[in-house]
Amino acid sequence: MKETPSIVEYGVAIDPRTMIEPPDAAELELEPGHPGLGDAAYVKRRKDLFALCRQHRLNHLGPPLINYTSEETRIWRDVSPKLDELHRKHACQIYLKAKDTLGISATEIPQLRVLSDRVQRETNMHLVPAEGPLPYRTFYSYIAERGFPVTQFIRHGSHPEFTPEPDMIHDCLGHVPPLMHHDYAEVLALIGKAAFTTADPLQVLALKRFSWFSIEFGLMKEAGEIKVFGAGILSSTGEIPFSLFSKDVKRRPFVTDEVIETDYDPSRMQDQLFIIPSFAWLRREIEGLVRRFGIGVM
Ligand SMILES: [Fe+2]
Repeated sequence: MKETPSIVEYGVAIDPRTMIEPPDAAELELEPGHPGLGDAAYVKRRKDLFALCRQHRLNHLGPPLINYTSEETRIWRDVSPKLDELHRKHACQIYLKAKDTLGISATEIPQLRVLSDRVQRETNMHLVPAEGPLPYRTFYSYIAERGFPVTQFIRHGSHPEFTPEPDMIHDCLGHVPPLMHHDYAEVLALIGKAAFTTADPLQVLALKRFSWFSIEFGLMKEAGEIKVFGAGILSSTGEIPFSLFSKDVKRRPFVTDEVIETDYDPSRMQDQLFIIPSFAWLRREIEGLVRRFGIGVM
């Protein structure tokens, strides 16, 4: 029998099987050092939302309508205007236009159910409620069916500008608006189908890196200027200026063969970034990669 090669992710060797046989966490786990850990009311809220969103996800019920608390609204009103100011200066036009079309406001937390309906009318993608970060392959099993998993909880109020895990601010202000663009939607759907179909852990890892350096941390050249489109950058007041102006960041044109060989550390600011010319170009790249990998999903 052919041996599965060992693979390195985030600088350490991992069991390749986790790439294709994801674990399923049925209960909320906040990582050590999480700012909400000592706050019983926060933990209770997170557990309630975890149970509700997991139930909606597993039963294909769509995003539940959430009664956000005044504390959650306070955090949204604290963070989203700061992000919006940075977006107006540094986000790509496609993102800005979509954010306006979706009517995402800096004062009221949007209901993902409403955003999902609007996105679906535009690109036939929809939003899937997620109780927390899903394992990569589970995540992409939804995307393969044109559903994008999004969280509905909000970070802890003691550190409104920081979250150790993707939360609703990351998902809603980072991931949702670009889903309104047709080429972007097709890029995602194809990554999802390919990652869910292949049995080769190395191909899953390559697709994950392609996605990380575009969907999560991508830059785009627009009218001669470098703009942001990656959700991980767009949802962080620190990462936006860092990605564009820090001397510690290496910014290179997006070359697919380099990108899929590049490891990264998700726990720190990203110091290697890649620049794409357009979503149409990115779509051709992912189509070429999937064809080259021989994954029969096109
Ligand atoms: Fe993300």
